[in-house]
Amino acid sequence: ARSKVIVTRQLFDEAQRLLDAKKDELEVVQWPSEKPCDRSWLLEHAKGATGILVMLSDKVDEELLDAAGSQLKVIASFSVGTDHVDRGALKSRNIRLGYTPTCLTDAVADLTIMLILMAQRRGGESISMVRNGEWPQKPWHPLLMTGPQIRGSTVGFLGFGRIAQATLKRLLPFGIKKALYLTSTPGKPVKEDHFGLVQEAAIPIESATGADQLAKESDVVIVGCALTPSTKHLVSTDFFNKMKKLAVVVNIARGPVIDTDALVRALDEEQIFGAGLDVIENEPNIQADHPILKQPRCVLVPHIGSATIETREQMATESVKNVFAGLTGAAMVNEAEL
Ligand code: GLV
Ligand code: GLV
Repeated sequence: ARSKVIVTRQLFDEAQRLLDAKKDELEVVQWPSEKPCDRSWLLEHAKGATGILVMLSDKVDEELLDAAGSQLKVIASFSVGTDHVDRGALKSRNIRLGYTPTCLTDAVADLTIMLILMAQRRGGESISMVRNGEWPQKPWHPLLMTGPQIRGSTVGFLGFGRIAQATLKRLLPFGIKKALYLTSTPGKPVKEDHFGLVQEAAIPIESATGADQLAKESDVVIVGCALTPSTKHLVSTDFFNKMKKLAVVVNIARGPVIDTDALVRALDEEQIFGAGLDVIENEPNIQADHPILKQPRCVLVPHIGSATIETREQMATESVKNVFAGLTGAAMVNEAEL
């Protein structure tokens, strides 16, 4: 009998061709719409599946694993983050987990640079001003839309994995003064020379003593850590109160690492200068009247960190390859340790 594989999105190009080419060996059941996959559809169709290819919006939990059944061998997530996956449940059932942590590093690091500059240089506010027809009343002025300069900034990284390190590499030519990082990945020491940074950098790259020091010293705070119980609301009122008034915070990781209410207050009270967010708590359910959208100094984009054409094609292809590897017991492009 053919193995059954569930795919919770329509894929494209090479990835779809790889799937279609296996139609003789595999029964591929694919969510038919462009919208996120319905949970009820997934639970219903998962029954009897050997592999499931999921998006970050699909929760992989005991309920789904039970619905699939004991023949399930592999989950392949089209993402770097795996906080939507109950890893413990996979481990106890000997189900392998594939993900795409390497191919999206450059795309997300690029977006991080965009958000830093948007936050420091008031990109969102500037665009709104022009679009709202306010420019004639606010002509060029020496102090119009002035913000802090990136040169000379101390940049603090909460989480110092691949994306953070690739961001640091991009920041070096801007003339930043110093990099501070905080990492909690157990058993995964930070390799400062992973990207040849130590050789390239004529600046200090130091491990922070804690979140307090990082908050106090940084002009730019970059949230790039995984979402775990210990990083949830890591950036909250206490953290904002320690930040410099001209500092900005950027989140390219997961929304709940920043306490949104605390961020709104920090912006209202001018405790910090601005924010650049690719992710936010409760996304995508942010209504037009949400207080964060009333903050002129907050730029929020809709979780597009890895959204380059090249990277999304690569993520799709790697996810399909991870499913195939999971079915046959071969090596995945990237397999998560459970
Ligand atoms: C995006 O956030 C991802 O985890 O790939
Ligand atoms: C994760 O990115 C970490 O370095 O903590």
